[in-house]
Amino acid sequence: MEPLLAVRDLRKTFPRGGGLFAQDSQGARFTAVAGVSFDVSRGETFAIVGESGCGKTTLARMLLRLIEPDGGAIQFQNRDLLALRGRELRSERRRMQMVFQDPFASLNPRMRVGEIVAEPLAIHERALSTRQRLARATAILERVGLNRDALGRYPHEFSGGQRQRIGIARALILQPGLIVADEPVSALDVSVGAQVLLLLQELQREFALTYIFISHSLPVVAQLATRIAVMRAGQFVETGPAEEILGQPKNPYTRELLAAVPELPRA
Ligand SMILES: Nc1ncnc2c1ncn2[C@@H]1O[C@H](COP(=O)(O)OP(=O)(O)O)[C@@H](O)[C@H]1O
Ligand SMILES: [Mg+2]
Repeated sequence: MEPLLAVRDLRKTFPRGGGLFAQDSQGARFTAVAGVSFDVSRGETFAIVGESGCGKTTLARMLLRLIEPDGGAIQFQNRDLLALRGRELRSERRRMQMVFQDPFASLNPRMRVGEIVAEPLAIHERALSTRQRLARATAILERVGLNRDALGRYPHEFSGGQRQRIGIARALILQPGLIVADEPVSALDVSVGAQVLLLLQELQREFALTYIFISHSLPVVAQLATRIAVMRAGQFVETGPAEEILGQPKNPYTRELLAAVPELPRA
């Protein structure tokens, strides 16, 4: 079967010692993603796990073309994503949406929840009336567990778990095929995070979603991954079915990560 997403040798460097006043943009560059390749099939949950700073977010942002890679190739639904421009890029991009780590920073504090959730429709489905947009926003908010009076309230009126549900509703409103979830529960308490993970699993079945699920935590990844890639210093050191990575890891670094979480349920 054709993969939904095929990534080949994706690379990204940043100016070393970056920052606004960096002088030596010609100087040495820091490699954040050092040539990563993988396929993601429809309906699977492809997890990327690795320690903070290993390049997970940089990789995620390149997949959605929120930042431009230095090199490599991305095929999405058999189209060369990096070659697309303008309207074609917008139409592919709406099929892939991101759920962000920090539900406090990722929602505009000055917008009401109804506007936040409906905004992608205002951009991508301009033919819809305001009433139709609101109806879609209400339906998706209810599906993620919030009731309709959330529409007129502001993000600060909600708990962390509720805000993450709002972010998920916004990501789903365009009915994307692929969700890239970048540490979606890392900022939440364990029990709240567990509920959000359950919701993500229900939504995957209901809307036939494909997930790229990013986390620094193997126990979290173990709950929903079908395949796991272990990332270290900008590269995948091992990729395989979740049972194999968790049960019979081949790479010493994967074994090290597993040894650090003795409570992990073994496959
Ligand atoms: N815009 C940027 N400019 C310079 N360095 C960056 C930038 N974004 C990320 N980095 C660096 O790239 C490395 C990988 O970062 P990131 O992708 O955020 O890792 P992770 O999500 O795994 O914690 C880090 O060392 C980080 O400091
Ligand atoms: Mg990150």
